Amino acid sequence: SRGASRPPYDRAVIASDLLLDAAERFGTPLYVYDAAELDAAVGRVRAAFGHARVSYAMKANSNLTVLRRLQARGIGFECVSLGELHRAREVGARGDDVLVNGPAKSAEEYTLGAALGATFIVDREEEVALLPPRSRALVRVNPALDVSTHDHLATGAAISKFGVRLDVAADVLAALRAAGHDARGLHVHIGSAIRDAADFERAFARLADLAPLTGPLEVLDVGGGWSLDADLHGIAARAREAASAFGAQVWVEPGRYLVAGAGALLTRVVGLKRTGRSFALIDAGMTELLRPMLYGAQHPVQALWSGADVQTYDLAGPACESGDLLARDVRLPEPHVGAVIAVGEAGAYGASMSSTYLTRSRPMEVLWDGEWSVIRRRETPQDLWATEV
Ligand code: LLP
Repeated sequence: SRGASRPPYDRAVIASDLLLDAAERFGTPLYVYDAAELDAAVGRVRAAFGHARVSYAMKANSNLTVLRRLQARGIGFECVSLGELHRAREVGARGDDVLVNGPAKSAEEYTLGAALGATFIVDREEEVALLPPRSRALVRVNPALDVSTHDHLATGAAISKFGVRLDVAADVLAALRAAGHDARGLHVHIGSAIRDAADFERAFARLADLAPLTGPLEVLDVGGGWSLDADLHGIAARAREAASAFGAQVWVEPGRYLVAGAGALLTRVVGLKRTGRSFALIDAGMTELLRPMLYGAQHPVQALWSGADVQTYDLAGPACESGDLLARDVRLPEPHVGAVIAVGEAGAYGASMSSTYLTRSRPMEVLWDGEWSVIRRRETPQDLWATEV
């Protein structure tokens, strides 16, 4: 359920006057990203995980400029669709810089993955026979754990669709080898926005328990799922401990952690309305940022104006759906038409989950790196029906 409390917007990485300037120049709704904060997030991951291979889960934000910036810092990509594999190819990623993941991979994904020299994350036993000849592979293990996050974001529970059971993992590695594949190691990803670090510890330990059955392995990929305030050093220590049971290197797959804090969604107040509740009507909603509606996610909200009369509002979008609220019970100084609101921590699963429902154009995206650059233009209505016959 959507609670009333909201974290303060203490990650306003771009100064308010710059945000107002961007809203003026590019219009709203608008996604803004801060290049320095992206780089800082990479730095924090490196500080904790040292030389571990980092495969960015590009589903979090697959903008080509973001991908290229991360790639320039030595980061590879985890891909879960043919489209994501095409993005990896487009930026020139190859070999160990490409992981192909997913519970129901298509023939096209196997083919393109093989062409890129990717490593496949095997999600079920039948995949041994589906992989292209002499593939490189990791076996995803379902650690059968309940974890501290929204049900839709938990992937390591016994009832989840992901991975092979703990008791068959070693057999699947053996079957891969028998079929001529390069069985490099094991993979685990317990979910996203995990609140309790102990969940990682339990999951990694369950994998380490398999070491007597698997023998030495090259890779232990411990996935992503870190919340923005996660103790990365603690998670890294547990990952190294588990990997040492196999004599393996640690690989990681962060998505949210690398990009969420660097991004904000800018939206303007369109009007005010009082029914049973007080609404600030805004020009962004579920089509631009689905997370509040889909997961009850609470994003920090910052008013980019000031005033004395502070009251409580729900932020309601323009869609013809009652659930189209970006936030509830937000304290705002009296809003005027055109006032700009920044919705924070929106760099991950914001633009990448935006939709064209209601034939709304997906938002423009701009990057601040000492100056603004447009990294995705605003869609036109014609863009939206270009594929229709
Ligand atoms: N590795 C695997 C195998 C994954 O499935 C995912 C995310 C990641 C890594 C990256 O997880 P992250 O570090 O970003 O938590 N749409 C949801 C998040 C879904 C995540 C799906 N898998 C949201 O908006 O919160």
